[in-house]
Amino acid sequence: MAVDYKERIPNNVSLHEDRRLQRALEEWQPRFLQWWADMGPDGFQARDVYLRTAISVDAQGWAHFDYLRMPEYRWGIFLAEPDPGRTIGFGAHRGQPAWPDVPGEYRGTLRRLIVTQGDTEPASVEQQRQLGRTCPSLYDLRNLFQVNVEEGRHLWAMVYLLHAHFGRDGREEAEALLQRHSGDRDKPRILGAFNEKTPDWLSFFMFTYFTDRDGKYQLASLAESGFDPLSRTCRFMLTEEAHHMFVGEAGLGRIVQRTCEVMRDHRTDDVRRHGAIDLATIQRYLNFHFSVSIDLFGGEISTNAANFYTAGLKGRFEEAKKADDHALAGATYAVSQLDGDRIVTRDVAALPALNERLRDDYIADCQRGVDRWNQTVRKHGIDFELRLPHRGFHRAIGLFSQARVSPDGRVVSQAEWDARQGEWLPTENDKSFVQSLMVPVIERGKFASWIAPPARGINGQAVDFEYVRG
Ligand SMILES: [Fe+2]
Ligand SMILES: [Fe+2]
Repeated sequence: MAVDYKERIPNNVSLHEDRRLQRALEEWQPRFLQWWADMGPDGFQARDVYLRTAISVDAQGWAHFDYLRMPEYRWGIFLAEPDPGRTIGFGAHRGQPAWPDVPGEYRGTLRRLIVTQGDTEPASVEQQRQLGRTCPSLYDLRNLFQVNVEEGRHLWAMVYLLHAHFGRDGREEAEALLQRHSGDRDKPRILGAFNEKTPDWLSFFMFTYFTDRDGKYQLASLAESGFDPLSRTCRFMLTEEAHHMFVGEAGLGRIVQRTCEVMRDHRTDDVRRHGAIDLATIQRYLNFHFSVSIDLFGGEISTNAANFYTAGLKGRFEEAKKADDHALAGATYAVSQLDGDRIVTRDVAALPALNERLRDDYIADCQRGVDRWNQTVRKHGIDFELRLPHRGFHRAIGLFSQARVSPDGRVVSQAEWDARQGEWLPTENDKSFVQSLMVPVIERGKFASWIAPPARGINGQAVDFEYVRG
């Protein structure tokens, strides 16, 4: 499944065999490039960046690394290899051959799912637009740009599906994906977390750890889809997404490490004086980003989620590994909910609880990184533990949005919330302190005061390699 790079739009879907589709996408291409110029990374567009590009979709060696100017990145259409004989793995159509085309009855629903996923991809590029100006190192700058170009490619992935399978509606949706903008008052992005600002690198690493991980779980459940082109698209996107989450996890790990080193070396908790970020502030940023990211999974009880599943459009995380009937009729699932001023767990029908189940898988995955950061804290002999806040904390969507819940999972009064909010969420003081650290470091091999160097470089290169040059 080599990618054809002689084509104007690199692809492994034999685009040249469908002239109409090829022409339509070639018309969309300059508008995408204009969007990238207007809304993509501010500055650095003429620099050489050490980027990876997909050259095939095989598990082995799909990536090629070289210096490239970002506008010359070869955004293209790559689907994972087809699995001949693939059948639908769940829902009412279980066991039937996967659909090569959109079934008419699910057209509107599938389009909505694809547009909602697609909308997040350019949104994050817009959110991260200014970060290059304050990079903590050339290594991190390169990672930011790698994430950005790949989110651009993920937009291509979804736009391809819209153009190839949804006719005129699909083409209109593809245009609208370039017209909505993150935080725009008139035409915002669809989902809340994608209209938040990413004003500093602590937020960026939190975003790539928590919010890109939401992407992983959404893509993984769409990779189970009976609509085969969507499944194959998402499968390949997941391989790129893994790097984004690595950037977040490793970035936060390096921040924690630096903070601990300063605490130990200076025998103080007051690390801000030494240009590091105190653990309490890191915890507040974590609370914020975790809570807005779990909102992305939607309401705990959702008829839509049940319908997507029964229709065979969106499965569970690792559907094939689940040892049940893959239809969930009559099954139950434990869901946390409010009962007056208490939080209780009740068994409810499993089908409408699928959002919550996906959120549970996500939360367990988030915990793994937190455990690793805490190992670093312990290794330095420091008595502090980073924690994921309770799922009810600071929610805008779902059952908990009607209550005030503390990070440790108590329903609290509005008065207590008002009094203690500053302990739980980033304060103006935190934000301006973090902002004060955002001074660009662009000398080879140098790193900002608040982050430790990585253990190793990219693609076997040294840490002090010139990841961005010119
Ligand atoms: Fe993405
Ligand atoms: Fe991503």
